[in-house]
Amino acid sequence: MKRLSLLCCGLLLASPLMAARVEVMHWWTSGGEASAVEVIKQQWRAQGGQWQDFAVSGGGGKSAMAVLRSRALAATPPAAAQIKGSELLEWARLGLLRDLDELAQNQRWDLRLPGFVRSTLSHQGHYVAVPIGIHRVNWLWFNRDVFTRLGLEPPSTWAQLQALAPRLLAAGITPLAIGNDPWQLAILFESIVLGDAGNEFFRRAFINLEPDQLDSPTMVALLQRFKALRPFVPQHFGGLSWNQATGMVMDGSAAMQLMGDWAKGELTQAGLQPGSNIGCLPAPGNAEIFSYNIDSIAMFSVRDPEQQAAQVQLANLLMTPELQILFNQKKGSIPALAGLPMGQFDSCARQSSQALEQAQQGGHLVPSLAEGMATSSYVLQAVTDVLSNFFNDPQQTAEQASHRLRRAMLAAR
Ligand code: GAL
Repeated sequence: MKRLSLLCCGLLLASPLMAARVEVMHWWTSGGEASAVEVIKQQWRAQGGQWQDFAVSGGGGKSAMAVLRSRALAATPPAAAQIKGSELLEWARLGLLRDLDELAQNQRWDLRLPGFVRSTLSHQGHYVAVPIGIHRVNWLWFNRDVFTRLGLEPPSTWAQLQALAPRLLAAGITPLAIGNDPWQLAILFESIVLGDAGNEFFRRAFINLEPDQLDSPTMVALLQRFKALRPFVPQHFGGLSWNQATGMVMDGSAAMQLMGDWAKGELTQAGLQPGSNIGCLPAPGNAEIFSYNIDSIAMFSVRDPEQQAAQVQLANLLMTPELQILFNQKKGSIPALAGLPMGQFDSCARQSSQALEQAQQGGHLVPSLAEGMATSSYVLQAVTDVLSNFFNDPQQTAEQASHRLRRAMLAAR
């Protein structure tokens, strides 16, 4: 039986007759996320493929990565996995990821992907993952009715947010929906850094890891701002997931949430029109800055030729404009493929696409720290530990936290 067709240049393409089977690990388990994965599953099945879902819940993917590590240690990794940013490089360094250069060349990725996407996916000049969407991380989601009812304007600076939050509290509304999860706190802190200190400081501190920036009066002021928001989070914020927090903004029990635009996937899933009742604005002080998070699927090196062919077939599917448009409409992100028409996307996604363009031109595009685009996972772990201890310890001062940040980040480097 002819199961594979061998095309020119050595590229293996799966024949449509073949029932390719792939196991795919991901952490897209919230309502919006699951509806986006469903798009891939459906299109995969429409090609005759079998999909073995390996979903590990937990926003930000920490649990998923732990489970993936144990599968890899047992030498039974899935064919494909949601791995992104610096973690890609960490897995590739271990020699576990499949080199996708041949596929990339055949599909002309160099021409179809923006430069920052290409470099994020490359390890020592070789492609190691397929990009699927670009999330903007530094967004403010707000409940328009709540603001209108109280005669308030959504904030465009952190100082404004801090000033209006007590009025929301007085009206019985939680100002800021967030869970006590180090990863969610890191997203909040990152938006404060970018909004109050700008992207130059962000780069020097969190990308270059310049010691005197990590422990500096600017950092102390940023940490103070972060801690000053503590009274405005939900009373029971331990264990609150990011999507439950989005739910609080949707039902009006909270006024705002600082979160990447995967939050938009929850709105779409609930039948709301993003940008209308629930508004989207750049995080306070972040108007020009675009903090990016690129979602990607990596393929593990496997020996079985059928699995190898299935990986190529999946990669091909993920790179089609049709899939990227439908997937990202549900997911809240924008396509990773450059230049796709945005007409069918909601107004927040169109804003995101324009903001990305402008940030690229103006030098305001930054890799998200909280989303693992800016530093190694070890440094990120150090940052999130320090931030979460500080946020939850009423005794700890911003000066102490700033010393700890410097020590922990430099030790993890
Ligand atoms: C991010 C991931 C997004 C997302 C979010 C919440 O790390 O890149 O796609 O949905 O976690 O689970």
